[in-house]
Amino acid sequence: MISLTERLSRIVGDAFEAEGLDRALGAVRVSDRPDLAPFQCNGALAAAKAAKKNPRQLADAIKARLDGDAAFEEVTLAGPGFLNLTPTVAFVEELASELKADEQQGCFRVEKAEKVVLDYGGPNVAKPLHVGHLRSAIIGEALKRIMRRAGDDALGDIHLGDWGLQMGQLIAELRRRMPDLPYFDENKTDGFPEESPVTVEELAEIYPAASAACKADPERMAEAQAATAELQAGRPGYRALWQHFVNVSREALERDYGALGVSFELWRGEASVHDLIEPMVAELKERGLLEESDGAQVVFVAREDDKKGIPPLLVVKSNGSVGYGSTDLATLVQRKQDGFERAIYVVDKRQSEHFVQVFRAAVKMGLFEEDQLEHAAFGTMNGKDGKPFKTREGGVLKLSDLIAMVTEKAEERLRENSGDGADDPSRADNARMVGIAALKFADLSNPRTTDYVFDIDRFVAFEGKTGPYLLYAAVRMRSVLRKAGVPFDEAMTGTFCLKEQAEVDLATSLLGYGDAHRSAYEKRMPHILCEHAFQTAQAFSKFYANCRIADEQDPDIRRSRLALVAVTLRQIEDILGQLGIQIPQEM
Ligand code: ARG
Repeated sequence: MISLTERLSRIVGDAFEAEGLDRALGAVRVSDRPDLAPFQCNGALAAAKAAKKNPRQLADAIKARLDGDAAFEEVTLAGPGFLNLTPTVAFVEELASELKADEQQGCFRVEKAEKVVLDYGGPNVAKPLHVGHLRSAIIGEALKRIMRRAGDDALGDIHLGDWGLQMGQLIAELRRRMPDLPYFDENKTDGFPEESPVTVEELAEIYPAASAACKADPERMAEAQAATAELQAGRPGYRALWQHFVNVSREALERDYGALGVSFELWRGEASVHDLIEPMVAELKERGLLEESDGAQVVFVAREDDKKGIPPLLVVKSNGSVGYGSTDLATLVQRKQDGFERAIYVVDKRQSEHFVQVFRAAVKMGLFEEDQLEHAAFGTMNGKDGKPFKTREGGVLKLSDLIAMVTEKAEERLRENSGDGADDPSRADNARMVGIAALKFADLSNPRTTDYVFDIDRFVAFEGKTGPYLLYAAVRMRSVLRKAGVPFDEAMTGTFCLKEQAEVDLATSLLGYGDAHRSAYEKRMPHILCEHAFQTAQAFSKFYANCRIADEQDPDIRRSRLALVAVTLRQIEDILGQLGIQIPQEM
């Protein structure tokens, strides 16, 4: 269905056109002075300028036309020619009925679906997930779901860091510890054991030890580098061992991401593009795109109008090895081969120069058009000291510890809220959901590009713009229907007759869903959807406080109000689904 603002824009656009003006200037949007009117149109000023007319007179003429339209209760003028618009209750009712009947619930749908890959993982094999990976996962998962909801064929790729020096460090360290393992027998080329020689917990211990040894001792570093080179050249025992490392890490990663409600359709990694690099370098050379610079081979990507100089993309280092830039460029070769029409990288904004380099090189190679490659950059989650979040001891907090921390806080809140000391068996489950919701909503409700401060007490609060507040509203909507003894489907059959202002306001808020979803989609900004959900939940709270629902005496009004609850619940569920937030049974 077309949104309420779009409907109003058409009517106001007609009036502009009838006055001989550009109809696009009749665009209506939600008012930033809701105390005056719920909607506004500021186009008369620009139209007057273009037509060299007096803006006030022009706005008057438009108002005269709108006064005759059945959609408007009131049209007033403010300032030099702003139009304040209040639709009639009947018009809101009509659109709310359309919303109720709409299979797509009024959300935004793309005209032409695209096959999109979103890159929002980037964890490194053998290293535990930490909070640095948190924002990428939470925002990426939400963007994927927002895009799918709009109709795109969007897939998440974890893009494992599984091919760097850290793999050689692990192999070299393990060889020192267990030299008799068959993987280290140079003459053996197949028939390696199915079982991994190490668990993921052991890997988590081996990696820091290996890394520290390499830092302290050049001989150990040389060993690790040699092992990396042999692995990459395809030594069978090393490849088999590498596969074990990846497999056991994957199990742990699936568990950690799963706890966050984040999943990936593609489990590729840097290693998966290894064989694409050589032909890619050959092609770059052949097309004259590769140039020599200080012994390295680079692609120049700087442009004249760059405000800040962009260094060339390093493809082959002077020692012959390839790095992060070449891997990401080769990954775009792979993504092109896989038929993706768009790639979105949900990565820390501190990597923005890297993506400018990679994207420009890919455009030069003719792989993609510039507007098909996006870096959906995000800011950092900081501690109260304004620096990237660390534990009290100054270390990086493991994701599993973070989850335990928010779950515990949520449990405290739930216990306070229910007032009794008795231990409810489902409380642990609910606390986990509320804790994760608090964490995710706090992250998603900030504009993606800004930094924010980790403040667990605020995140978990039941009041304010928080995940728990939204969950609480949804749980209440379910309980209203349950206590009224009216199942959801039956509630949806009610016809709207809106009596109180709080009902009209809630319906109007619900009708803003399509615009919010569209804008979140187009800008790749989940916080726009969060903001809409929060405002709708607030409108619901007012409605709940001001209007009788189940115990309303007039049967038509009762049915109308139950329908309003049902449509609100359906919309909040749809939005929380896109944000990747689960609703608990009770709170
Ligand atoms: N593995 C990298 C890291 O941990 C992040 C990778 C981001 N994605 C990408 N395609 N470059 O820092």
